[in-house]
Amino acid sequence: MESILIKNANIFTPQGNRALKGEEMAHILNIKGGAVLCVDGVISYVGSEDSLPQLPADCKVVDAGGRALVPGFIDSHTHLVFGGYRPDEFEWRLNGDTYMSIMERGGGIQSTVNATRTEDAESLKCKAQCFLNRMTEMGVTTVEAKSGYGLDRDTELKMLDVIDTLSRDNADRIGVVSTFLGAHAVPSEFKGRTSEYVDFIINEMIPLVQDKAEFFDIFTEKNVFEIEDSRRMMQAAKNAGFKLKLHADEIVTLGGSELAAEMGAVSADHLLHISDEGGRALADKGVVAALLPLTAFALKEPFAPARKLIDAGAAVALATDLNPGSCFSGSIPLTIALACIYMRMSIQETLSALTLNAAAAIDRADSLGSIEVGKRADMVILEFEGINSLPYYVGMNCVREVFKNGKSIF
Ligand code: NIG
Ligand code: FE
Repeated sequence: MESILIKNANIFTPQGNRALKGEEMAHILNIKGGAVLCVDGVISYVGSEDSLPQLPADCKVVDAGGRALVPGFIDSHTHLVFGGYRPDEFEWRLNGDTYMSIMERGGGIQSTVNATRTEDAESLKCKAQCFLNRMTEMGVTTVEAKSGYGLDRDTELKMLDVIDTLSRDNADRIGVVSTFLGAHAVPSEFKGRTSEYVDFIINEMIPLVQDKAEFFDIFTEKNVFEIEDSRRMMQAAKNAGFKLKLHADEIVTLGGSELAAEMGAVSADHLLHISDEGGRALADKGVVAALLPLTAFALKEPFAPARKLIDAGAAVALATDLNPGSCFSGSIPLTIALACIYMRMSIQETLSALTLNAAAAIDRADSLGSIEVGKRADMVILEFEGINSLPYYVGMNCVREVFKNGKSIF
């Protein structure tokens, strides 16, 4: 039996086994002079140091020095595995090009698809591992990773294999949850034949990958996969046992949010251009609204209406969207700063959005996302005693120590 006690901690945590909606997001439990006992990777006591139970023999003790202790961060939306890089496109966008016009010219996602098809699995894995290591330093203890840069049978399988290997290699450092995003774009060999590609996803890919990924995601967007095609794929994926996610209302208002609600998706992501009806639909159906401020920032687009969504009773999560195109950043500190400064989320809401609600966005709210008895012992000690250090460290890391499954890993 392995045990660890973190004492003298200023504990801040959301509570519960489900996403917090609307005003619940601001409810953060604070225990000053707190202690957390973890046995075999699971939290067995949280409370004041005064009422600690008898410690197990050989219990390791960590003194947090009065600093803030928060749940490990969860990055619920990343495109972690990819070939090549796209710095040229970034420069074109600085000069006025748009994300969609580059994509329509055959760049964008297709350019990473070309690179991913030729790069071998080992190299893809090594690159992704570097990002995972950096994420760990920023306090991320679980990450979601999507395929979607293969868009053919072999390369999609290669990507899912890489994600699976990463998940096994990192089991005691960072959890990796896999998503099949074969519907990320229509690849060049299917240009002008979108419905044939949709048939290919439904008839060939879904049966092939149904045991290799937990989630099914689509880039539902004007001129990519529109509502009818998306609904068709989601229905097939649901029938095959996938949980659903959607890139929704990112570039234009298309109704992806309403579709996510209709299909019972676990999360709808991006939402820069979500309509009021879309927001209400997510709130009503309990679909987590996963917002990705780094992407809006990098694309110079308006931020998603976080305040409006929370005030409408939705459950908001935050994630990075790390990818080589629209958002080459996995920065948790900058995500926090943007959420607090520009999206008018409170520090408490931001913490809920990166922990418990992010856990809900990957359907893990029963085991992750808060410091509570019975949950995995994934936690972070910050540099300061308060959680206001989170946005105060603008774009800088304020994580001092990271625990995964009750083990100090950073
Ligand atoms: O979440 N918009 C679609 N997918 C990604 C970007 C992928 C890329 O540009 O390579 C996103 O923004
Ligand atoms: Fe994305």
